[in-house]
Amino acid sequence: MKRIGILTGGGDAPGLNAVIRAAVKTAIYEYDCEVLGIRDGYDGFIDGEKGIVPLTIESVRGLLPRGGTILGAANRGNPYARKVIRNGNEVMIDVSDEIIKGIKRLEMDALLVLGGDGTLRIAHELYQKGAPIIGVPKTIDNDIGGTEVTFGFDTAVSTATEAIDRLHTTAEAHHRVMVLELMGRDAGFIALHAGVAGGADVILIPEIPFKYEAVVAEVRQRVERGYLFSIIVVSEGAKPQGGGQIFSRGGNEIYIPRLGGIGHAVAEFIEQQEFESRVTVLGHLQRGGSPTPFDRWLATRFGSAAVRVAAQGKFDRMVALRSGKVTDIPLEEAAFPKRVDLNDDSILTARNMGVSFGDE
Ligand code: F6P
Repeated sequence: MKRIGILTGGGDAPGLNAVIRAAVKTAIYEYDCEVLGIRDGYDGFIDGEKGIVPLTIESVRGLLPRGGTILGAANRGNPYARKVIRNGNEVMIDVSDEIIKGIKRLEMDALLVLGGDGTLRIAHELYQKGAPIIGVPKTIDNDIGGTEVTFGFDTAVSTATEAIDRLHTTAEAHHRVMVLELMGRDAGFIALHAGVAGGADVILIPEIPFKYEAVVAEVRQRVERGYLFSIIVVSEGAKPQGGGQIFSRGGNEIYIPRLGGIGHAVAEFIEQQEFESRVTVLGHLQRGGSPTPFDRWLATRFGSAAVRVAAQGKFDRMVALRSGKVTDIPLEEAAFPKRVDLNDDSILTARNMGVSFGDE
């Protein structure tokens, strides 16, 4: 193994830089192998020389606590549907062959792709075209199949929990209902974990469709018991029974639809029942900032392990955490989305703590 490449695709997640650092250090110290960074996801391969940057021990110094990604990310960078302007019109073209040519031209023995489900699905397709790919799962949503957890999730949960703690004090002072909308797309992990850690009264997640009336009933019951405030945590993908998710923007071939608005819908309903409510949408604060120690630890293990997998010449694989150990599994497993398991102890524990999921 003489030279490997590394790219970060999709939305960023705290810990990406820690993976880059670990991969570069392992490649150089352990295998005397050169590392090239590809800028802005797969786009770097088609951006000529400015799309490729050599990564050295010097260039990864000080990266552990840094959020974002030094390589840049592109969550519209699908090489199978790249937007270009032809004769004044927007058209989609397939530039996947350019990626394969780029890997060959740069003489890369392996390409580490750090990404979420979309980026990893593309990675698997590129492998089928001949790219020597190893996937590294990343997302704050924790919704990638095959791995117990992804880096970025712990940081997002920690930020969200802090937000709940802050909302608690002002909710109590003003006898209000505070609704906090959190990210997570179709998986409720961030809302569930932060909601339980922050002592929320109601947690609404995509996996458990809710009834508006049941949410209000919980708020009313608390007031009757003398608790004049409530904290409601809503995952952006939560939906009412018999209804659909709420989007702030529709999708197309390039953009996936953008979720958002369910927090306001819930607060609106509660206000109609005479309980004063306020909404906070935590948004990208959940993705930004320094990774927690757990995320740095997991990201470092993933980055280093990915290089070891590359050195063994094992491609179309993804590093993953299984039973607390880092291993490698078929990349295809990333395509099976992970959702909150309604039968495990987390949901039961939350219910035992008196949390309502708005379903009964
Ligand atoms: O997948 C990560 C995530 O932060 C989701 O939780 C959220 O729905 C989405 O990305 C937001 O994407 P964007 O940064 O494109 O608005």
